[in-house]
Amino acid sequence: MITSGALLAAFALQFVFAAVGAFTQPAEDGSYLLHSFTGMAVIPALCLLTTLFAALARAPGRVIGLTLLPLGLVLLQVLLAALANAFTDPSGASTPLGLTIGGLHAVNGIVAVHVVAGVLREALKPSPQSSMAGAGA
Ligand code: HEM
Repeated sequence: MITSGALLAAFALQFVFAAVGAFTQPAEDGSYLLHSFTGMAVIPALCLLTTLFAALARAPGRVIGLTLLPLGLVLLQVLLAALANAFTDPSGASTPLGLTIGGLHAVNGIVAVHVVAGVLREALKPSPQSSMAGAGA
């Protein structure tokens, strides 16, 4: 419960850090540093810990699978961010395709938050069969 709660908080903060990057003036390479660090290090580490604790708590396979999903969605986030940055025109300006992929990055973030909320719900379930709370997941 503790790690999945921390994971949900990290995902929520990730939206704040995206806004920090967008509003930083002047816009430069380091604008998204907090967003990058949280997305590349903090969130993946918390994802792995959540899966580990779910396994230690002998949560059902369905729940363990559910804990793996956010990590997969974060990997997709990295890919979508890279593609959004890659699809520029020869002068380096944004293209409609790149911006669409950037939009999908935001949508995928919303999907991931809902999946993590589902993991937390499982962790809060009182039944010993499905609960991951015992091991701190
Ligand atoms: C909570 C869900 C989100 C997660 C887990 C996430 C994760 C990531 C990751 C892992 C990267 C790659 C960082 C790197 O390559 O160094 C990234 C980049 C980026 N994200 Fe997100 N992101 C999320 C939501 C958002 C939202 C809502 C926006 C804005 C609407 C956004 C805007 C960006 C931008 C602009 C980049 C590229 C930054 C750069 O080029 O330096 N992200 N994100």
